[in-house]
Amino acid sequence: MIRGVSEVLISRDSIAERVRELGAELSETLRTELEKEGSTPDAPDRIVLIPVLTGAIVFLADLIRQMPLAMSMRMVSVQSYPGATTESKGAMLRSALPDDLTGRHVVIVDDIYDTGQTLSLLQKLIRELSPASLRTCVLLRKEARRIVEADVEHVGFDIPDAFVVGYGLDYNGHYRNLPDIMTMSED
Ligand code: IMP
Ligand code: MG
Repeated sequence: MIRGVSEVLISRDSIAERVRELGAELSETLRTELEKEGSTPDAPDRIVLIPVLTGAIVFLADLIRQMPLAMSMRMVSVQSYPGATTESKGAMLRSALPDDLTGRHVVIVDDIYDTGQTLSLLQKLIRELSPASLRTCVLLRKEARRIVEADVEHVGFDIPDAFVVGYGLDYNGHYRNLPDIMTMSED
């Protein structure tokens, strides 16, 4: 089966607008957390963003530029779609977990919340490290294939049950560089 990119589901302009809103929303929430503990937005070592490689990188790059707060970043890698198949075979951590999350405000950033296996695995492992707070921000959410519920507080767009590429999302390693989010067709 050969699959091709068919049509634009979410345009680059809509993405940009929504990412600005998400950045503002997240910053506001984090600022409130910092206030509660008597820290200021420029306090070092309070906020850690954890992008899930590789799909989250384009979203992350735009999101962080909408967040005027002191933050550091720790990448993690999770395997959820082995090989060329689009059928989830579960999630497995492929990198070491950051060892400096205790007592910090942690935000997991991912491209899409689909079966929920990636995010629920990461949330479980990170909670064991006792962060001061943990929240999750995804650009996209799909409901149809959910296997396990994760806690996802910040969502860019709810999308129908279609396979999408672009803006960081791939099909077998391709199309991450497309500026719009596109659906794929079978042909
Ligand atoms: P989950 O563990 O099934 O929730 O999978 C999350 C990961 O699956 C995402 O981070 C993506 O890398 C990948 N994924 C799920 N749906 C899509 C899609 O429609 N296009 C591209 N990648 C997807
Ligand atoms: Mg991913």
